[in-house]
Amino acid sequence: MKPILTVSGLKVRFGNEQSGVRAVDDVSFTVGKGETLGVVGESGSGKSVTGLSLIRLISKPGRVVGGSIDFDGRDILAMSDSEIRDVRGREISMIFQDPMTSLNPVLTIGRQITEILEVQEGMRGGRAKARAIELLSLVGIPSPERRLGDYPHHFSGGMRQRVMIAIAVACKPRLLIADEPTTALDVTIQAQILDILKNLQREFGMALILITHDLGVVAGMADRIAVMYGGRIVEQGSTDCVFEEPRMPYTVGLLRSTPRLDRPDEDRLTPIRGLPAEPVGQANFCRFAPRCDIAQQLCLREAPPLRQVRPDHMAACHFAEDVPTLLHTSSEAIAL
Ligand SMILES: Nc1ncnc2c1ncn2[C@@H]1O[C@H](COP(=O)(O)OP(=O)(O)OP(=O)(O)O)[C@@H](O)[C@H]1O
Ligand SMILES: [Mg+2]
Repeated sequence: MKPILTVSGLKVRFGNEQSGVRAVDDVSFTVGKGETLGVVGESGSGKSVTGLSLIRLISKPGRVVGGSIDFDGRDILAMSDSEIRDVRGREISMIFQDPMTSLNPVLTIGRQITEILEVQEGMRGGRAKARAIELLSLVGIPSPERRLGDYPHHFSGGMRQRVMIAIAVACKPRLLIADEPTTALDVTIQAQILDILKNLQREFGMALILITHDLGVVAGMADRIAVMYGGRIVEQGSTDCVFEEPRMPYTVGLLRSTPRLDRPDEDRLTPIRGLPAEPVGQANFCRFAPRCDIAQQLCLREAPPLRQVRPDHMAACHFAEDVPTLLHTSSEAIAL
């Protein structure tokens, strides 16, 4: 079946060719109808910029400098401003990383939901209000009809996130991009929010791009995973493949530094040494090499392309075939 979203060779840069940050550097992926793609990586790896570029919300000095984005046969990058505004919210929706900046503090929650229903669906008055109540109850907000008149600051963090989700799915989008939807929340609330997303996805048949730095979140949610490092996808494949037999040393590092519920002895967690560098300038080397335990001279001379290592599994490492042995992942179950 044809994917609903096909991103090919996407490049987003902040600043100029020489000294600008290559926030997204030749990124390609697809998302099938109703499928969940988990996008993971450390801070600054380009996850949000990738998500924002899908609905053309990259702000200056950033811009898309290459590649294509096909959404259900339509070219997102070629759309006029009014066409993309029509797609946003109605067909592709996004839950933004910072809920406080995306809810309007001076409008009631009811007003914010009915507004999108009016603008995008042409719903008015009682019908819009009834739908707003329905949406709030769908995301688990108790006594929704009483909460319509409340302002964002009347809600706790978890409840605000539910409101954000209600607004994002108000028009039953076919693709929802959720950028760190649970990061600021405690673990119990996190699980509830993820459950809500799963249920909505089932109900509306939406595809979901779930952006998170937390591998534990994608483990239970995603069908497929893309791991980003320095603006690139460095590993991609089915969730099972990537978790059971990671082929990129960076992914191994991420897995080893993620706490597991079944492995409470925290001292077995090993952080990845060093810090990620901002992807500036052309890279004719592996950007992860300075932090990699198995890097060789070749890694400093040549950037490894993202290549197929197994069916439905790609990795950008010159030594992908040797990773299980060299990093002892074959003898140790590190998957979550
Ligand atoms: N407005 C901006 N101006 C300049 N550089 C930017 C801007 N927004 C993002 N960048 C750069 O783009 C790169 C990718 O940023 P992005 O926000 O996509 O990271 P992220 O993976 O979402 O990180 P986090 O986990 O912290 O949310 C970073 O190096 C960042 O510095
Ligand atoms: Mg981000």
